[in-house]
Amino acid sequence: MSNQKNTSGILYPSLVVTNKHYHSNKGPPVFFVMMRLNNKILLLFLVVIVILVTSTLWDRCGNITKEWNNRNMHIYNDKSDRIGDIQSVEELDCLINGDYMIDCRKEGDEVYIPFSFLHKYFEIYGKLANYDGKDRFEWSHSYSRIYQPKGKYDSRGVFMHFENYNVEIRDRVKCVSGLDGVPMSTQWESQGYYYPTQIAQFGLSHYSKNLTEPEPRRKVLEDADKEMGKWTIPLGSSMTRTFINSFNTEVLNFTTDIYTNGIKLRLDHVLDFVMTLNIFLHANSSITIVLQNRENKEFYNLHYISSDFPISIQDNNIYHGIGSSEKWKRLTRDLIIDLQKGLNYLEKEKSKYKISRSKLKVVNIILRGRGSIDNLTLSSSEHILQFYDSAEWFVKNQNEKTGGWPIPARRKLASGFQELKPGWYSAMGQGHAISVLARAYHHSGSDQRYLKAALTGLKPFQVPSWQGGVLATFMNKYHWYEEYPTKPSSFVLNGFIYSLLGLYDLMTIAPQSYTEETQLLFTEGMVSLKHMLMLFDMGSTTSYDLRHFTLGIAPNLARWDYHATHINQLLLLSTIDNDPLFRQTAERWIGYMSGKKSAHN
Ligand SMILES: *[C@@H]1O[C@H](CO)[C@@H](O)[C@H](O)[C@H]1NC(C)=O
Ligand SMILES: *[C@@H]1O[C@H](CO)[C@@H](O)[C@H](O)[C@H]1NC(C)=O
Ligand SMILES: *[C@@H]1O[C@H](CO)[C@@H](O)[C@H](O)[C@H]1NC(C)=O
Ligand SMILES: *[C@@H]1O[C@H](CO)[C@@H](O)[C@H](O)[C@H]1NC(C)=O
Repeated sequence: MSNQKNTSGILYPSLVVTNKHYHSNKGPPVFFVMMRLNNKILLLFLVVIVILVTSTLWDRCGNITKEWNNRNMHIYNDKSDRIGDIQSVEELDCLINGDYMIDCRKEGDEVYIPFSFLHKYFEIYGKLANYDGKDRFEWSHSYSRIYQPKGKYDSRGVFMHFENYNVEIRDRVKCVSGLDGVPMSTQWESQGYYYPTQIAQFGLSHYSKNLTEPEPRRKVLEDADKEMGKWTIPLGSSMTRTFINSFNTEVLNFTTDIYTNGIKLRLDHVLDFVMTLNIFLHANSSITIVLQNRENKEFYNLHYISSDFPISIQDNNIYHGIGSSEKWKRLTRDLIIDLQKGLNYLEKEKSKYKISRSKLKVVNIILRGRGSIDNLTLSSSEHILQFYDSAEWFVKNQNEKTGGWPIPARRKLASGFQELKPGWYSAMGQGHAISVLARAYHHSGSDQRYLKAALTGLKPFQVPSWQGGVLATFMNKYHWYEEYPTKPSSFVLNGFIYSLLGLYDLMTIAPQSYTEETQLLFTEGMVSLKHMLMLFDMGSTTSYDLRHFTLGIAPNLARWDYHATHINQLLLLSTIDNDPLFRQTAERWIGYMSGKKSAHN
């Protein structure tokens, strides 16, 4: 996500052209000075260009602020009396730690170091911004965001600040599977696999968006009852309204020769691209959504087919398998995501292929083969249905004996740790899943399947990590739930706190008679957290885990994203536990984000 417009190409000429003061006020002599300075200015351009590149990275990390505007640089075209200053700027060699030389500037007693150097040396960030026609340079020590909690954390409400997450759009999501409506990851294995942590984050973000976003717009295209579509039925095909006793509702049955063009509904639908329907497909049958790019008129066909293969692509045809079993299914598809993921999949090398929502429209819906449909709708969003796709996945994919949601990808956290073999469990995955299931239990009006799965999901918390569970013990004393149950233990902080939130959610939502074990696990975890939290404080940032302790190597410092996550988590915990440790520590850690350091002796 980056919305800055300029390129370095615009910057250079516009700077010279807009130095109007020099031309109009002082005439030729000043212009001459400017010409002489051009070399230096060029050098400074380089610095500015590096800043531009830097800020692109910065933006990619999720912080977009003001648009770029670089028509002028006020340092140079402020007032002509500044020219005296500029004249006294001299080139200067800077020797860095007695090691190597860089080009600097001297003005009077002050020395100026290129920002590009400072950026690399201190890992600080900067960019040019423009406010009301005035440029300024903005320096940031870090790039991440802190979310101050608005009140006490509510397990029935928004999860953390996940209403801002859009899990399915991430590059490491291969597609949203047509088989069960949840994302498939390519983070550690390129062929794609189900990653419980990611599936839970998908569910929690949709649950949170349901609570924070405006009500969706919905257009029913076909309900076989009141809203009937104007379908075009070719010769040899048929479409009939049929009453289904088991649903006590009418549906549309269709039969076509698969070699014909199919039964077609013409549309001219813009803006709302989340499709939902109830569908029953026999073998070799499909429903196709035809999208058109309104600019270049190109067509894309999204086929949802009776197949167990999640995704395949051929030219502008994107096939999502929705399963070959002959039964009623409810599909919820974000057509834009399906198109985008399909195109990315096709064009792996240029995976930045993006078509904006506003350029697309739905032009046809086509039925082929034999089957039935009902409740065909296009909406602006269907967050709760997508949330339930995630919750259902956790009900269906739990190992009942161990209570775990296995992770099928190998994972080597770092050299020195043993590899986690496919089938490992993560305390973060378990905790996140429990957060989803607890909310599903609450939202569904106490559907026992969700409660049962959540309670069963506690089992790995009781099993030591060396026996396939997620429980580690620090110094033979403090219990810790491992995001990565490595040998030796890694004690990843953010994953541990997420697992505690899962326990807290279940403990608050489940009926009291079920909460004993959850409460014990949560209380023990909080005791460990309070005793061990300071081990992560590095004086100017935090560490991601305790590998420096368990492997005897350099600490693995948290990048700013994770440092901010630590803080957001502590701020949240401070609303449910009034130990001042959480708020005080969070405040000190916030200070690190603007360059504050612990005092030294
Ligand atoms: C949230 O879900 C409820 C059903 O629980 C639904 O009525 C409402 O329209 C949804 N709102 C949004 C923004 O998704
Ligand atoms: C309509 O389709 C449904 C599901 O495919 C099937 O159970 C039913 O028998 C069909 N009815 C007719 C009249 O073909
Ligand atoms: C589906 O199509 C395949 C290939 O065209 C064919 O071999 C198979 O018999 C078809 N299955 C059914 C149930 O029509
Ligand atoms: C279509 O939606 C209605 C209303 O929600 C529901 O009663 C009906 O069962 C749905 N149709 C199918 C085939 O599930």
